Parts: sequence; structure tokens; C-alpha cells
Amino acid sequence: MSATIIDGKALADQLSMALKKEVAALKEKGTTPGLVVLLVGDNQASQVYVRNKEKRAQELGIHSIVERLPADISETELLERVAFYNQHQEYHGILVQLPLPKHINEEKIILAIDPKKDVDGFHPINMGKLLIGKPDALPCTPYGIMKMLEAYDVEIAGKQAVVIGRSNIVGKPMAQLLLMKDATVTITHSKTQNLAELAKTADILVAAIGQGHFVTKDFVKPGAVVIDVGMNHDENGKLIGDVKFDEVKEIASMITPVPRGVGPMTITMLMAQTVDHAKRTLN
Ligand code: GUN
Repeated sequence: MSATIIDGKALADQLSMALKKEVAALKEKGTTPGLVVLLVGDNQASQVYVRNKEKRAQELGIHSIVERLPADISETELLERVAFYNQHQEYHGILVQLPLPKHINEEKIILAIDPKKDVDGFHPINMGKLLIGKPDALPCTPYGIMKMLEAYDVEIAGKQAVVIGRSNIVGKPMAQLLLMKDATVTITHSKTQNLAELAKTADILVAAIGQGHFVTKDFVKPGAVVIDVGMNHDENGKLIGDVKFDEVKEIASMITPVPRGVGPMTITMLMAQTVDHAKRTLN
């Protein structure tokens, strides 16, 4: 039997409609949610991501600007731009697109963002809040995945969850969010032994490895829910996930496709957090 396809695009559209109404209501109260994206250099993938964010913000009525900065900007100058937007009342969310050029210390830049304006959930204060189970801003990809699991009534409490990947952006916060919903969580990574065997114990399997078609049917327990965070390109330039979709969908109970899976949800959660930050300034 073939798996239910988790339609991230449809869910993102549905959430976006609700957000659009919230934005309109906030505008009536005199507050327009504002998002500033700082884009340093000319990384091709970043350009695409940022354009998509800008487009979605505009569709929702969020005031959004992208400040494009040269690749050779100094760390001090970038810190000054962040400090400027921290003070600027018009922008409720600040996002510094990663990766940054090598000469800039990413941690230092993230630390400089006002945690109340952090829409990525990357600031150590927000990471710490998440770790103690009292989250504020969340990393958008794991946040979007939790929304998908919720929308598709996936049972989490007491289930085995395996996360492949241990990044600060996806793997670690994903594991923590699943733990907060009472899953038994295993994080695996490049040094994990018997990875396929461990993955096969999962009721919920999250693949965030960054290697196209890494997860084959040999990694998947029949009936598992499989979430694919991957955004890779094959030899023909086609966008593919970390999961070998065609074969895994035959044994999973639910699966996210790539594209139209996790990706659209990530952007939507970014918009949701921008709106949330704007709402908080009213209280
Ligand atoms: N680069 C790739 N994904 C992201 C993201 O979610 N946030 C930021 N700031 N940079 C990224």
C-alpha cells in the first residue's frame, strides 16, 4: 500500500491564509508586521531562498525588505547593521541569511540579534529556552514539521523517533520538539554505526542529512512516518530530497515529498513568527 503524501504546500497555503487575515487585523490596529533580511554576498542558493521569503512576505501583507550587502563587508559593519535594525521599531523580525562569508563569525552575528526579533530561533537565548522546554522563537524547519505532524494527526507520545542529522538548525531542535511531545528520540549522524538498523526502529523518521536519496527502503520500518528535509540537486540539476521517495512511499504510512513538503512550511513558519513578534509589541 502506498503512503499518504503529506502535502506541505497545501498546509502552508492554508496557514498563510489565516496569517494574511492576522496581518490585516494588525494593520487595522496600526501595526504592520515588518521583516528585514540581511543577505551578504552572492551565494546562489541564498539568493533563491531570500527571493522566496520576500515574495511570501509580500503576499501576506508583511512589510519586508532585503538589505543586500557586499561579500567583503567587515564583521563590525555587519554588527552595526544588526544593531540598527534592533533599534528600528518598524521591523519586528531580523533574519541574517546563512551561510555568511568565512571572515565573519556567524555565532557573533546571531548573538547580536535582539532575541525578541530573532525569527529563526537561532539565538542562544531562544535555543536555551527550547532546551528547557519553554520555547519562544523556534527554528522554522522543525517548527513547520511539528505543524505537519499535528495537521496529519500523527501520534507522537510514546513513539520511537529517529532524527538523522545533528545540526543546530534542524536536527537538534527537531529532536527536542519531538521529546517535548513525549517521543523517545534518537539522534543519529555521520559517525553513527548501524544507521540503517537504528532508523528502522523509527515510527517517525526525520531525514536531515543533506545527501540526495540517502534514505532507502532499507532504513524504513513498514508503516513509519517519513519526513524529508533534504534539498539536494541530482546530476541533472533536479531538486531531490534525502529520501528515495519512490521506493520508501511503498512501505511508509505517510511521507513528505520534495518539493512541496517541508520547504513551503519553513517559509510559512518564518512569517508566522514575524507576525507573532509584531503582536507582542502591542501588549
Ligand atoms: N540558510 C539556510 N536556511 C536558513 C534559515 O532557515 N535561516 C537562515 N537565517 N539562513 C538559512
